[in-house]
Amino acid sequence: MITRRALSSLRRAPLARGLSSRASTVLSALDIRADRELPGVYDGEWTGSGDVLESVCPTTGEVLARVKSATPAEVERAIQRSREAYKVIRSVPAPKRGEILRQIREALATKRDALGALVSLEMGKIRTEGEGEVQEFIDIADYGVGLSRMMNGRVVASERPGHSILEVPNPLGVVAVLSAFNFPVAVYGWNLALSLAAGNATLWKPAPSTPLCSIAVTKIVSEVLERNGVPGAVAGLVLGGKAVGEHVVGSSDVDMVSFTGSEAVGREVGKVVQGRFGKVLLELGGNNAAVVMPDADLNLAVSAVFFGAVGTAGQRCTTTRRLYLHSNVVEDFLARLEGLYQSVRPGDPLDRSTLLGPLHNRAAVQTYDTAIQHLKEIGAEIMTGGAPYRDLASPLNGGNFVMPTIAIPQEVNVKDKVWSTETFAPVLTVGVFDKLEQAIEWNNGVPQGLSSSLWTRDIRNVGKWIGPAGSDAGIVNVNVGTSGAEIGAAFGGNKSTGWGRESGGDAWKQYVRWSAATINFSDEAPLAQGVQFSNTA
Ligand code: UN1
Repeated sequence: MITRRALSSLRRAPLARGLSSRASTVLSALDIRADRELPGVYDGEWTGSGDVLESVCPTTGEVLARVKSATPAEVERAIQRSREAYKVIRSVPAPKRGEILRQIREALATKRDALGALVSLEMGKIRTEGEGEVQEFIDIADYGVGLSRMMNGRVVASERPGHSILEVPNPLGVVAVLSAFNFPVAVYGWNLALSLAAGNATLWKPAPSTPLCSIAVTKIVSEVLERNGVPGAVAGLVLGGKAVGEHVVGSSDVDMVSFTGSEAVGREVGKVVQGRFGKVLLELGGNNAAVVMPDADLNLAVSAVFFGAVGTAGQRCTTTRRLYLHSNVVEDFLARLEGLYQSVRPGDPLDRSTLLGPLHNRAAVQTYDTAIQHLKEIGAEIMTGGAPYRDLASPLNGGNFVMPTIAIPQEVNVKDKVWSTETFAPVLTVGVFDKLEQAIEWNNGVPQGLSSSLWTRDIRNVGKWIGPAGSDAGIVNVNVGTSGAEIGAAFGGNKSTGWGRESGGDAWKQYVRWSAATINFSDEAPLAQGVQFSNTA
């Protein structure tokens, strides 16, 4: 008879495999074991006995690790543990919570390079961008430390003598963070920093294809929490697919859901959370335009559009997808941009000289192919790119590499899907205009409203662009590209991007519950608006 131990070692057998040295170097720097199935749930303890998720390297196709996702019972337990943890953390004074955040920031900073490399390995973005993403978490943690002493309410003048009105922010409860594959560290960081400063417990449901990034981050954060005598479930983790997401989103024990992802899924998440009167924060699709005026500094504009469109292989929400060029600059601009595109070579994102990494998965290559196909069908000129890379040398031949593409459709019809849908790949579509008003109309004519960028040195254009008849996006830049926002301002978009705001600005105000507290310290009890309610009058 086969013993249980033999059976379990048989089950582990497929894992007895040699990991490439490029992968094992990155994983071992963060103590991630690839020779066993990893637990994908953290609720104060590491568990996970659900379906196995595979972390697949987008650059080579290599399976990096296998992770056990959460069963329904484990999701429920994690939610309940988060609720219990919330009851502890809400009573810790905010500046003390800031001190814990400061320690998290320090712990992250010591692992910045190692975590950045893991982002490159597992998500596929290039090294400097992987590290930049960890830096974004460090920056927002700094911001949260400061915020922990500045989450101020207000004292409002009362119309009644001897009365005061306070507007009081209190902790909200459990905040679920559902994040996307393309920023597997920073977007969680934005949410954790604000949520923890505000006194909430956070439960993270990351993309199922970047489990290692979330495990590595959760380990760093949980060690700090434990060291400070705070329950680990203040920053819980549940890995899994759609069912796990649905469970978390539908739970009335989750007070707020912060969701980053597609418009299609966001629409459903929004309805479910609204249906149970929870709070929801949505960061959905971006379909961002750069507008180049005839007086623009083309040196700056060309390289910014290049980074905006090709950086992260076109997989930022803020990626430049539409380029509107004034007719006076079209030829010069496109010639320079094409030159940059043609100088790009695909490579291992771990290699510091690489500018172009892979798409994250095979499905994205398919989406790219379909978009190119449609562009060809409508007679667009494919100026450069237009196909996946074939015949790359091993091991890159196992990756999802596509050529960054510039396409010029015959006309700008913002209702056509070429212009109105977000293709999460490096496809830049170009249109030509003569008047700024026309470019603004095109900029605003799509469902999404995340980011936008105007290139000009004329102050009159700037006024128009940022004013009431200007860009309707959440990010309205001037001589700055569409992507790569700093953490200090609120980050988010309007219209089908979901209206959510994360990171800086006033975003923290969503992570608290507000109370208006009218306090009477007089010996009378007058009613507001002069109402008399007594029969002695
Ligand atoms: C995203 O793509 O989901 O502005 C976030 C940027 C980054 C964040 C992008 N700071 O490009």
